[in-house]
Amino acid sequence: MSRRLFIAGNWKMNLDCAGAVGLAKGLVEQIGSVVEVDLAVAPPMVYAAAVGEAIKGSRSALAAQNMFYEDNGAFTGEVSGAMLKDVGCTHAILGHSERRHVIGETDEMVNRKVVKALGDGLKVILCVGELLDQREADKTADVVTTQVRVGLEGVSAGAMSDVTIAYEPVWAIGTGKTAMPEEAQEVHAMIRGLLGDMYGVEASQATVIQYGGSVKPSNAGELLGQPDIDGALVGGAALKATDFVGIVQAGIGIRK
Ligand code: 13P
Repeated sequence: MSRRLFIAGNWKMNLDCAGAVGLAKGLVEQIGSVVEVDLAVAPPMVYAAAVGEAIKGSRSALAAQNMFYEDNGAFTGEVSGAMLKDVGCTHAILGHSERRHVIGETDEMVNRKVVKALGDGLKVILCVGELLDQREADKTADVVTTQVRVGLEGVSAGAMSDVTIAYEPVWAIGTGKTAMPEEAQEVHAMIRGLLGDMYGVEASQATVIQYGGSVKPSNAGELLGQPDIDGALVGGAALKATDFVGIVQAGIGIRK
């Protein structure tokens, strides 16, 4: 089974409106008509509409960095799936480690968001990953297994075609420390095995599992060359069009 490469840029809470639109335009120009890879960018929510306009007709999808699990009402500061779709988002990144560990989202909250987003017709990038102390205590498999199992509760095998898993070891995010390709591959294979238990071999083989954590052009080839690493969720390096495109090119190169 050959899975398509999927490279997504998570711009986090960076840039101003002009900077976000400029980055989007730069990406569109440099990506051109690359067809071997699926692409998405996730700008800060307030710039989603403007970035959506800038990437219109391009190869890149528009993703949200978060969403809430209710349709509307008294939820100050939150944004619904319908609102995301209204401004052109097709994807939502859910359960990012910064939302889990800085904002305090639980597995149960992430699960409600996943179920709601899929119900709303959005594609989901579900992020999972262990903290440094959890890795050092040999808890990586336990932590990631719980995040995947609880995060996907109530999601059918059929709906898994709209789910991407992003494995992002928290100790590798924004630190310059990348997991060794073999280290990352081991967790990706474990996740795929788990998805096999949950959904059967066919669905698990079809599911795209991205790696995230200090991915850059210089290490992307090695990571994306691993058999169960199907793409990247890129933070810092996604803020420079040339770096993001360098990662995309490295992925295409290694797949050839
Ligand atoms: P960095 O690429 O900056 O480490 O961020 C990874 C990440 O958290 C993407 O969601």
